[in-house]
Amino acid sequence: MLQTKLTAPFYGHVRQYHNLKAEIDAKMAEVLESGQYVLGPMLKSFEQELAEFHGTKHAIGVGNGTDALWLTFKALGIGPGDECITTANTFFATAEAIWVTGATAVFIDSDPRTNCIDPTKIEAAITPRTKLLVPVHLYGQCADMRAMRKIADKHNLKVVEDNAQAICGRGHGFKIAELSDAATTSFIIQKNLGTFGDGGAVVTNDPEIDRIVRKLRNHGSEKRSCHSMGYNSRLDDLHAAVLSAKLKHIAEWSELRRQWAARYTKGLAGAQHITLPYETPGYYHVYHLYVIETKQPKHRDVLLQFLNDAGVDAKCHYPIAIHQQLGYPWGHEARIAGPIPNSERNAACCVSLPMFPELAAEEVDYTIEKLLEWDRTAQ
Ligand SMILES: Cc1ncc(COP(=O)(O)O)c(C=O)c1O
Repeated sequence: MLQTKLTAPFYGHVRQYHNLKAEIDAKMAEVLESGQYVLGPMLKSFEQELAEFHGTKHAIGVGNGTDALWLTFKALGIGPGDECITTANTFFATAEAIWVTGATAVFIDSDPRTNCIDPTKIEAAITPRTKLLVPVHLYGQCADMRAMRKIADKHNLKVVEDNAQAICGRGHGFKIAELSDAATTSFIIQKNLGTFGDGGAVVTNDPEIDRIVRKLRNHGSEKRSCHSMGYNSRLDDLHAAVLSAKLKHIAEWSELRRQWAARYTKGLAGAQHITLPYETPGYYHVYHLYVIETKQPKHRDVLLQFLNDAGVDAKCHYPIAIHQQLGYPWGHEARIAGPIPNSERNAACCVSLPMFPELAAEEVDYTIEKLLEWDRTAQ
């Protein structure tokens, strides 16, 4: 009998498209027939839906998640001489966006369990130049925003949440964008809410951030033919159409992600050589990524290779911390405040297992089986 080899893919966007084809195609056709593709009615209605979803007064669609960050920083007046505190174990764009403004990126350590920014390390890194905190809701779990708010109030700092990975997530008693000046997100293909290309957004309750980001994203223009210095970073209406169709499903997809996460956690509970993701009590982690860590750094690449060879498309997020990248900091201003062993351990030991709503139970179980097989023989 012919047996097909089991595999487990890392991405599921084509499966997702097939499941939602009629809804997405209809929305896209609406845009195509309208003849309005940039700053058109679909973008406007999606921005309203996104603001409602977050419970914020405003949402602004921009070109990508990186632009969402630095356009917001610029709207807050961040620039050369200012210091912005964040972590080194995030996607590169968090720091890149700080550098785009000419400001100084200050890296502090992450919490050893959540891998998000460690609030207990912030105050020691604050100087008279510090203007901004940029917590990242890494892997789909919110950073401790209550602690951020307290520190920001005490030291008169701005806070922008890098929420590229945790849309639909929440903390214990707080929502994303509730305790900050603004939250930004990315809609790149593989995100929990992803389009078929690039996209991003800013959500905020601050009318000035809304006004300035809107102006900056459109060549510094609030009125036709009148300009001040700006950029071109708009979320196209075709992307807004895809995202509008998908936004209706984000709650059910988040639940599915959590179900797969629970299945992994149960199945891998007895493994000796890895640490499983930590979910802060009371938080709603949306598992953009299900990231385990090998207890020993030397095991990481071996495990990754073992899984890949077995047809499990595991990956690493992010194997090189920002301050360990070749050429860092490329002539930009940067400071590492204190030792950052947790961020460095996270980079050295992380392995992301397949995680998307459309996974099949046998793919998750196969991944668990292979991981346990490796775990039994690891030394
Ligand atoms: C934490 C984080 N910040 C920022 C970004 C940048 O978003 P984009 O790729 O849409 O520019 C991403 C994702 O790509 C991300 O994961």
